[in-house]
Amino acid sequence: MALPSGKPLIPALFIFTVSLLILPSQSQKCSSQKFANNKLYAHCNDLPALDSYLHYTYDPIQSTLSLAFVAAPAKPDGWIAWAINPTAGGMIGSQTLIAFKDSGGAMVVKTYNITSYGPVKESKVWFTVKDSSAEFSGGLMRLFATVVLPEKGKTSLNHVWQVGSSVTNGVPDKHGFLPANLNSKGSLDLMSGESKGSGDFTDSRTKKKNIHGILNAVSWGILFPIGIIVARYLRTVESADPAWFYLHIFCQLSAYAIGVAGWATGLKLGSESKGIQYSVHRNIGIALFALATVQIFALFLRPKKEHKFRFYWNLYHHGLGYTILVLSIVNVFKGLSILSPAKMWKSAYIVVLIVLGAIALLLEAITWVLVLRKKSNKSTKPYDGYLEGQGRH
Ligand SMILES: *[C@@H]1O[C@H](CO)[C@@H](O)[C@H](O)[C@H]1NC(C)=O
Repeated sequence: MALPSGKPLIPALFIFTVSLLILPSQSQKCSSQKFANNKLYAHCNDLPALDSYLHYTYDPIQSTLSLAFVAAPAKPDGWIAWAINPTAGGMIGSQTLIAFKDSGGAMVVKTYNITSYGPVKESKVWFTVKDSSAEFSGGLMRLFATVVLPEKGKTSLNHVWQVGSSVTNGVPDKHGFLPANLNSKGSLDLMSGESKGSGDFTDSRTKKKNIHGILNAVSWGILFPIGIIVARYLRTVESADPAWFYLHIFCQLSAYAIGVAGWATGLKLGSESKGIQYSVHRNIGIALFALATVQIFALFLRPKKEHKFRFYWNLYHHGLGYTILVLSIVNVFKGLSILSPAKMWKSAYIVVLIVLGAIALLLEAITWVLVLRKKSNKSTKPYDGYLEGQGRH
């Protein structure tokens, strides 16, 4: 039995991971949207989060931006918001237009200068609102506004949009914190009509998140289980000794090296994300790093195989190994739900796990056959010991 596991997987994984970096392209849906008031706009964009649409016309001479923002509120009694952020890329500092139903049931548009993550307060904003209105039909709210930008000659803007589920006493309540609620920002080219999926600011963040995801999915989620498969099954094959041992070390050390890089990118992302914490994902990540580090260093404390403590060392080594395996897979799924890439990536990872599981199952069966056969051949020898985890190394 040669090395049946990992090899053909690696190119597939490579393709899988590289294509994670490529964002899916979209075909425009907003171009078929019509407005009851027959308003027409020069540009329209399908925004990359929250199923929202922005139609707009910019007049650089007058410095006016005429726009229609279309989205479904999170609940029928909720609100929709579109904002310009003249100073940063996210929510804090955004100069916001919010549309919602007032207590009388009429749709209104109000302006908010968002200065914190706390409750919002109606206020003046950076731009002047020449006119605004809103309507709600067919599950969609439409916010219309013509605003005058205080700076002439702007060619691009950071914009942010959001949807919420409720309004209390005329004040829009906090929105959800799902990935789509956090990715609803970008940069808008006023002249060409292009909206970058997410502006320069978020673009590099998304890329960082993808890199973090790839490094960790490959190391903890794939290489590491392959290393365990190598150790558990190739060890029974006499001709694979001591190759299995070096292959195992190679897999786990590269998994560890890549994993630590991924872990560091995760810490960086965590420290940069203000106001939002994915504590479970973060804590599992920290635990994984600690356990894997212990595992690597325990290698140096390994008693000789004849030593009476070796049995306990093996118990500990395997126990910790399987713990890391389970935590790694759990955390890859946690990460996938945070990053929420196209559904196919989650499916692709599930397929990888199924393939690895099937390989492990097959090798488990083969191993038992080999071990039992060996036992019957050398039935005079009382302890073969493989299945007690007494490896030859
Ligand atoms: C918005 O609030 C910030 C912080 O209080 C303030 O510095 C800024 O001038 C305000 N912007 C407007 C247009 O009022």
